[in-house]
Amino acid sequence: MKNIAVFASGTGTNFLAINKALNVNSRIAKVVLVVSDKPDSLVIKHAQKLNKNIFTFNSKDYKNKSDYENSILSKLEEFDIDLIVLAGYMRIIGKTILSKYYKKIINIHPSLLPSFKGIDAIGQAIEYKVKVTGVTVHYVDEGVDTGEIIAQETLDISNLTSREEIEKEIHRIEHLLYPSTIIKLLEE
Ligand code: GRF
Repeated sequence: MKNIAVFASGTGTNFLAINKALNVNSRIAKVVLVVSDKPDSLVIKHAQKLNKNIFTFNSKDYKNKSDYENSILSKLEEFDIDLIVLAGYMRIIGKTILSKYYKKIINIHPSLLPSFKGIDAIGQAIEYKVKVTGVTVHYVDEGVDTGEIIAQETLDISNLTSREEIEKEIHRIEHLLYPSTIIKLLEE
């Protein structure tokens, strides 16, 4: 049984989907820790309801990134974490965590990387009027959305007229693709 830490800053719908899928496949892995830089976020409310171990921090309370990442590291060690899953975590992972968990950190991004890296990938796709976009799961490296690609799924948006419709479809794909990719990775 592998131990997963989910890092998130937002609404936590991916966290919920991953947790649910892993509960069904309960022999493979378990989300044992939720880490957030936003103590008041919805993801933390969900994590509390599900009785998860939680570590929240406010970056302003620390001298620098490596200082707060060292606090995260002690939690990761305490819970014997095998895989870090970023799910809407709005901070760049620094070398303090990367050096210890290289190739053990994955992220989901709402575009077909290498297109539309960074903030508001869906907005960037709409702006470019692309007809096909999608979702990518990738390893995390020193860059922003630059790590090796693990899985991708396309989405034809040529007939979708509003941003809301596109977001809904992207989330639908994410909630299936992320758990299935995690399970495949851990079964390897
Ligand atoms: C997802 O769209 C994911 O692709 C991006 O952040 C969003 C997180 O959504 N990295 P949620 O908090 O899981 O609902």
